[in-house]
Amino acid sequence: MKVFEQDKLLPLQPATKAITKAELIELLQVRGELQQELFRRARLVRKNNGLDNVLVRGVIEISNFCQKNCDYCAMRAVNQDLDRYRMSAEEILAIAAEIRKANISIAFLQSGQDRQCDSTIAEVIPEIKKMGLHVLLCLGERPKEVYDQFAELGADSYILKFETSDPKAYQNIAHTSLSRRLECLTWLREAGYQIGTGNIVGLLSQTLDTLAEDILLAQKIRPDFISASPFIPNGNTPLENLPYGDLNLTLNTLAIYRILLPTARIPTVSALEKIQKGGQLMGFNAGANIMTINFTPPRRRDLYTIYSDKRFVVSLDHAITTIRDAGLKMRLLNSEELVVSH
Ligand code: 5AD
Repeated sequence: MKVFEQDKLLPLQPATKAITKAELIELLQVRGELQQELFRRARLVRKNNGLDNVLVRGVIEISNFCQKNCDYCAMRAVNQDLDRYRMSAEEILAIAAEIRKANISIAFLQSGQDRQCDSTIAEVIPEIKKMGLHVLLCLGERPKEVYDQFAELGADSYILKFETSDPKAYQNIAHTSLSRRLECLTWLREAGYQIGTGNIVGLLSQTLDTLAEDILLAQKIRPDFISASPFIPNGNTPLENLPYGDLNLTLNTLAIYRILLPTARIPTVSALEKIQKGGQLMGFNAGANIMTINFTPPRRRDLYTIYSDKRFVVSLDHAITTIRDAGLKMRLLNSEELVVSH
């Protein structure tokens, strides 16, 4: 697929041949008018696939315990400088009820990789389903049987990001193997989940070449949802002195995901807003169509230091304003669309 001719992006053709790494590297670097053209193209793909309605999901961060030691994350097991919490089933269900009350259709249970949550999760999944909500999980790596069990209890979808497609870099940064993580994605799909994955842009030792490889890996996985997040240097981690991930590279990655995976759901992540005010609006303008609203109570939220101890916390108001400014509509429970005019 040729993407340029004489400094112009070519019209989007049905991909007769796979996009090459060299073409991706070119696309990742476009700025100025060509970049705007890339974003316009991504928005057109979103529109033509009937995906201009924004799904909102309410996240409950149920535990900040983690068995892993990812060098970018302050919830890593060896960080002693963090008070740990684990929510009870009652606490989780009370928050899920608030999500339901806000007419949000997706309850998103997220935590560090914490096996000790498993019985609580098994307890709450059927209860949340009874509220009429879609259950999305993001809990890290588990044995196949646990994924199967949660699916049988009614969980609908699962996010497990590959973070980087470079096996050496993954091992070096996350201290576990990338192949095991990719195997988990296979198990999740086999268990019947809709699957989400994605990468971090600007992670240690990343080059344009490995970033292009990330995109090719995503294309191979064919996930139902896909994200690109900018790296945020996080205090109390080995990578705390690294520079922030590049906003433009992240947006270009997002737009390319939209074009190559036209029917995928793509979030505009809060880390975009953290690196620049208005960053999530830019994500929508590059082709995103999901936003996550934080329902974790403040005393817990401040301890969920996933990419920073000063995260940008997405409120319902911020979501409404951003979606309106992007000229999009918010999709709420029972497919009702909240029309917000300018
Ligand atoms: N910068 C950017 N993204 C991060 N994540 C965790 N820590 C960071 C960081 N420092 C992302 C990872 C993880 C997701 C839940 O949060 O992609 O999978």
